[in-house]
Amino acid sequence: MEHQRENFGGRLAVILAMAGSAIGLGNIWRFPYMVGEHGGAAFVLIYIVCTLLVSLPLFVAEVTVGRKSHSSARLALGELAPKSKFWKAFGFILVFTPLLIASYYSVIGGWSVSFFVKACALDFVKSSPDVVTGAFGSFISSPWTPLIAHFAFLAACCAIVACGVKAGIEIFSKYSIPVLFLMVLVILIYSVSLPGAGAGVKYLLKPDFSQITPSTFAYALGQSFYSLSLGMGCIITYGSYVKRDENIVASSFGTAISDLLFAIMAGFAIMPAVFSAGIEPGAGPSLIFQSVPFIFSKMGATLPVVSSICAILFFLTITVAAMTSCISLIEVGVAYLHEKTRMSRPVASAIIFVICGVVGVFCSLSFGPLSDLQIMSKGIFDLLDWFASNVLLLIAAFAVVVFVGFVLKRDEVRDEITNSGTLKGCVKLFPVLYFLIKWVAPVAVLLIFISNFIL
Ligand code: PHE
Repeated sequence: MEHQRENFGGRLAVILAMAGSAIGLGNIWRFPYMVGEHGGAAFVLIYIVCTLLVSLPLFVAEVTVGRKSHSSARLALGELAPKSKFWKAFGFILVFTPLLIASYYSVIGGWSVSFFVKACALDFVKSSPDVVTGAFGSFISSPWTPLIAHFAFLAACCAIVACGVKAGIEIFSKYSIPVLFLMVLVILIYSVSLPGAGAGVKYLLKPDFSQITPSTFAYALGQSFYSLSLGMGCIITYGSYVKRDENIVASSFGTAISDLLFAIMAGFAIMPAVFSAGIEPGAGPSLIFQSVPFIFSKMGATLPVVSSICAILFFLTITVAAMTSCISLIEVGVAYLHEKTRMSRPVASAIIFVICGVVGVFCSLSFGPLSDLQIMSKGIFDLLDWFASNVLLLIAAFAVVVFVGFVLKRDEVRDEITNSGTLKGCVKLFPVLYFLIKWVAPVAVLLIFISNFIL
């Protein structure tokens, strides 16, 4: 069944929209500190290999499913395997996971908005470094401001999704992604010029192979999946907007390279500054919300204007990066409701806003009034994050590669990836790509899944 649906404009539009989904908080805070914790440059090398050998083939597999079915993630597998009840039902995970993630992702998106507002009010420059660092704890545990910011962030993302694929997502990504690269570049240049920044640069460049263990591979692969938005239905859904004559392999490669480049640039933008300020590099989520304001506050003592501009730029960058990712999560649900029930995109977006908004309330409050509510010794936010990224995401990623490798016929996959044999480069590459999708990717996903429970 062929749906009448919107398409992304062209190759660049596809890459920018997909890069918008991929580039997000995963690149800006998670990647730099993962690098630090797992052997510096050695981790980066493993990360690049995992991206090229496993994540990129999986990415191609997701785009293939999307474009071939021309359906959103929830309906795509059922559409391609119409006789199977299992695959029809499985699509449910592909709409449930992104909505779960959107609920807590928008809480962090809200933090970014609040910090952007603080930066505009010159809060970091006006207060002492210690006050600025301490303020994070009281900010996230206070009930109201994070909640309001969460709803504001989610509302902005839903409004863009409501405008549609071309008028909303494509246009927003078209302008925001290049600006994002530029902003990170500015921060990077400033960061590496700070006194003592050399230690941070060394930290990212000096390989320490003695720190490499089997779990390093699991972390690298997990990070690479998360960073490329795999296993969540987002890339399947975006793939469904890719035109029939577009080159899937080239678009996927372009997206993966942009994501990789952005992560590495973010590492070089953040780590040298962190070292220069003498802050612990493995601080996790608080790294950007505590250390970065600390840096701006210190810098504000001597260079108030530059510091204020950099702080505003920095938190604007994070907010925009988080928005383009959250948009892709929301789009999965909106596309499904729109296709299934024919309701308009604005109505579908409003429904998703309410669902994710309400779930997000619990996530946000789990840092404050609901912090005592623990399930499996985790707060609500941590529990959802763990369940979505360590369980659901991997199950979905495994299912997609198995689906493309074993349920679809080899010729069907070949036709889709090579545009019926017309793309000569893809025809040559196909046997290797197919082998990676069919054998290497499922084994790798299975290994991380197991290692998550035993390592
Ligand atoms: N890839 C995004 C990031 O790096 C996160 C994300 C995951 C977005 C899954 C959409 C789907 O932050």
